[in-house]
Amino acid sequence: MLIVANWKAYVADLKAARALLRAGERVAGDGHDIVLAPPAPMLAYLCDYGHKSVSFSLQDVSEVSGGAATGEVTAPIAQASGAAYTIAGHSERRAQGEDDALIARKVQAALAAGLTSILCIGERERDAEAEYLGFIRSQIDAVFSVLQPQERAHMVLAYEPVWAIGKSGQEAIAPADLFEMTRYIRKALEAHMSSTEAAQIRILYGGSVEAGNIAALAQDTGIQGFLVGRASTDVKTFSALVRAIR
Ligand code: PGA
Repeated sequence: MLIVANWKAYVADLKAARALLRAGERVAGDGHDIVLAPPAPMLAYLCDYGHKSVSFSLQDVSEVSGGAATGEVTAPIAQASGAAYTIAGHSERRAQGEDDALIARKVQAALAAGLTSILCIGERERDAEAEYLGFIRSQIDAVFSVLQPQERAHMVLAYEPVWAIGKSGQEAIAPADLFEMTRYIRKALEAHMSSTEAAQIRILYGGSVEAGNIAALAQDTGIQGFLVGRASTDVKTFSALVRAIR
């Protein structure tokens, strides 16, 4: 499984960051890929601090590639600082006004710099008529329609229903509903590539994942990993969560 630890702005000091890095190193292996997504200013420090088994991600990336762009964290800078991945389109960025077109440009900037792009998609709420499915499809189409065929292999999708983010474990998606969603997402991907290629794109689930629900969410739901927020920012809860899916 691919486990992405999205520290958001929860981890605010280097001592806590070092402890989480060591925890990540301890639980890596056993077939799991651990990716840490610290706040951007901590990235190079943590890479230099010493790591063998974990990889690093940015939480967001600029659409520009460099030059006169004060304050932007670009994909080439992230790559040079040790990131192998970047998240794009997280709902907390979309809530700041990022639209599908901007997110598509960010994904392209990341791929151009050799990063793997983790694209977050997810509905704000569910309606009885299942119109949210069309919404998910439009989020996928907006990005995949602008990618070159060879770029698609460097994409990871993170399905994160907004209504399930930052809640308690009981409010995460039900495993049966997650299975339906991963099936739907793969079908939507097939509009842009062959079914064999679509089957190779990893789909993660995110939204109130914790040690108590991760095993059920991993079982027969069609996902290849998790994007974990709050529960990834404490050494004990993060270690317990990864061990729960061993
Ligand atoms: P959460 O966040 O695990 O705190 O719900 C997930 C995310 O927003 O990536």
